[in-house]
Amino acid sequence: MVNNIQCAVVEHQAAAYENAESIVLLLCKECAAGVGKINLPESLQAAVNAFIEKYPDFYEVEAVNSLALMHEGKLLQLTIVGCGEGKECTPANFRKAAGAAVRALQKQKITTAIVAVPLLLKATRAHYLQAIAEGLYLGAYKFNECKGESKPATECNITITSAVENGEAVLAQAEAIAQGVSLTRNLVNRPGNWVNPVVMAEEAGKVAEAYNLEIEVLDEKEMAAKGMNAILAVGQGSKNPPRMITLKYNGAGDAPYTAFVGKGITFDSGGISIKPSENMGEMKDDMAGAGAVLGAMQAIAQMKLPCNIIAILSCAENMPGGNAQRPGDVVKAANGKTIEVVNTDAEGRMVLADAVWYACEQGANRVIDIATLTGAVIIALGNETSGIIANNDELAEAIKAAGKKAGEAFWQLPSLPECKEAIKSDVADLLNSAGRAGGCITGGLFVGEFIKEGVEWAHLDIGGTSTATKTSGFKVKGGTGFGAMTLIKYAGTL
Ligand code: BES
Ligand code: MN
Ligand code: ZN
Repeated sequence: MVNNIQCAVVEHQAAAYENAESIVLLLCKECAAGVGKINLPESLQAAVNAFIEKYPDFYEVEAVNSLALMHEGKLLQLTIVGCGEGKECTPANFRKAAGAAVRALQKQKITTAIVAVPLLLKATRAHYLQAIAEGLYLGAYKFNECKGESKPATECNITITSAVENGEAVLAQAEAIAQGVSLTRNLVNRPGNWVNPVVMAEEAGKVAEAYNLEIEVLDEKEMAAKGMNAILAVGQGSKNPPRMITLKYNGAGDAPYTAFVGKGITFDSGGISIKPSENMGEMKDDMAGAGAVLGAMQAIAQMKLPCNIIAILSCAENMPGGNAQRPGDVVKAANGKTIEVVNTDAEGRMVLADAVWYACEQGANRVIDIATLTGAVIIALGNETSGIIANNDELAEAIKAAGKKAGEAFWQLPSLPECKEAIKSDVADLLNSAGRAGGCITGGLFVGEFIKEGVEWAHLDIGGTSTATKTSGFKVKGGTGFGAMTLIKYAGTL
């Protein structure tokens, strides 16, 4: 059960549809021709044919058309959800359609439903089945934790018609992924007064305990001993102390570790370079990178993927307290480089500086960091696509490919060596901000300065994608969990 949804699979047989309260058909244009093969009772088959004729655009991605009819003396909801045509008929679009489908079921207060999918008549379509289940679980997500009296959401048992081999095992994977992504969403949606760096460490502790992962939580003193003055500088303006949290998952013996490093600013006021008050509250989501890393780590451990991952959540609260860092301050990061703090609102790259260094220090030969690092990425790429800055094009391509599987879009930005000039300081080694021009690129390049020679690295800027202003597909308004699923799919390729 995830988000009050339980999925199961059944063969495409007449008995499957008996006594159903609701039948949802997931159809692309081409699948519509195959509706005759899924063994619907004759009268329903006739209704579906009439329905398709009445709504010729039924196949458009996420189009939902529903009608109630009497079937054997009982009310039956028949819903058709479109999954595209031709090249659009991807697992990603079926995932989106499944998200729209489950919200239609919730709205209709359905407690048992059949999701009938002619596309799954082929035994080899496991990736489609998995995407559909992910969409059903994640499209149903709701964040109710902050409501004083939350009414219990109705549970819905969904049976998917499928001939896919090992269907139950495929569903178990989808469930693990949806649980991981939902954990990310919960952390992102929780307000800043509920989630501080110590709470992040507790949340990581729960995951470590449940899946038997190694965990280390560094407090201020321990970070100081390691010279992690960049994260400490960011955290020093807050009463809530910073934490550097490391989890280790060993699923591949002594193979080298890949590190996932997340920005975990539990609230970003901007510090002394304070942000305008309008919409400042949105900055409770500034730990979305760390949230994505933790959600991914939970799913990877639950799925027992054959890979070795170090997860680092670099957590601090950026506040303008009496002990806060000042613009003009110079701090020495753990790798020995000095940083001139021109803008205390460019804090994400500072917490990541020490974190990616720590990942390399622990022997990772590949580092992927993920962060709500800049507003500039929104100007460059909008709210659907995350930016990639990398020192290795194959790694960037692998992340884009994993993103495609996850229904999450990434785009690699150019990072010419010349761009590094912009982050050079006159008084120190580096400037923490190079202003507006190419802000997403210079932000990423700054983080890259703390990667050890020879280590593959990619930086994912989710500044525009970590939250959504409207519900659509498998994403629900609020925290999207963006990046968690991509990291899981990427780990699946290791
Ligand atoms: N967390 C913000 C980036 C952000 C802002 C993400 C709005 C999503 C929406 C980050 O810490 C920040 O403040 N970045 C500054 C950097 C600048 C001072 C170089 C920015 O983008 O303005
Ligand atoms: Mn900031
Ligand atoms: Zn920030």
